[in-house]
Amino acid sequence: MQRFSMEKRREGACIVLTPTMGCLHDGHVSLIRRAREKAGQDGIVIVTLFVNRTQFCPGEDFDRYPRTEKRDLALCREAGADVVFIPAEADIYPAEAGAKFSSFVDETKLSKGMEGASRPGHFRGVATVVAKLFNLTQPDIAIFGEKDFQQVAVIKRMARDLNFPVTIDVAPTVREPDGLAMSSRNAYLTPAERKQATILSRAIALARKNVVEKGPLPAAKLKKIVATRIALEPDAALDYVEFFDPDTLQPVKQAAEGVRMALAVRIGKARLIDNGPL
Ligand code: PAJ
Repeated sequence: MQRFSMEKRREGACIVLTPTMGCLHDGHVSLIRRAREKAGQDGIVIVTLFVNRTQFCPGEDFDRYPRTEKRDLALCREAGADVVFIPAEADIYPAEAGAKFSSFVDETKLSKGMEGASRPGHFRGVATVVAKLFNLTQPDIAIFGEKDFQQVAVIKRMARDLNFPVTIDVAPTVREPDGLAMSSRNAYLTPAERKQATILSRAIALARKNVVEKGPLPAAKLKKIVATRIALEPDAALDYVEFFDPDTLQPVKQAAEGVRMALAVRIGKARLIDNGPL
């Protein structure tokens, strides 16, 4: 992979990368199409499919994370990918006795709250694999989805701090018609849970409506309003809801227009996240 990319770069081609964990849906497809547009006809669009063990916490869904490689390949081709890189686990994390993988990338600030607090070690796994994928594929541009808002912030910071010669491009969240953000994990939902899963986008709309109609509100008060509404869904359990500055990810005391909201909710076997501007 690295030799191929280095050669393409020497030839002057623009390389655009879309990293994924596979089980592709329309959100991923929109990223690949965007990559195709940015790369132009002479550029190279690389999609990676790799379910990255190190970003899953103990007890999470690594083993049952859906794997749909054949279908993914067809979608990549259709969306305009030139190369699909599907490394084996041992290609990414060598496991030979005595020479086991032992180097990690740790963003120490933006990764601490929200997903980082709920899923210790998650962003260390993400930053490490993304750094490795950058080194392997040598992209000029890498595309990430706004659906994972904190992930984008962590990767932008990592790329800047460690001088990766890559531009991080952010693509909007693709949603189902009823507002549910597309996610590979939506596949875990039963039909009854699927209906309740719209609570994430509805909670963001509810918070937005509150600040638009009432003006700035204490974040603690707005959290209560959101939590009370989510508790009405029989199978939904709120993990966290946060109101924060979209640039620094610092929690705010006053929730006002322009502040970002993010939340994580467990519904049945799925843990879903979403975010949006107030
Ligand atoms: P994965 O969850 O497969 O997502 C791959 C990319 O698709 C991410 O940039 C994510 O933000 C984006 N994405 C997911 N759902 C989306 C939606 N509904 N709309 C728009 N974009 C969406 O995120 C990861 O994989 C991993 O952490 C990875 C970066 C690949 C590192 O392992």
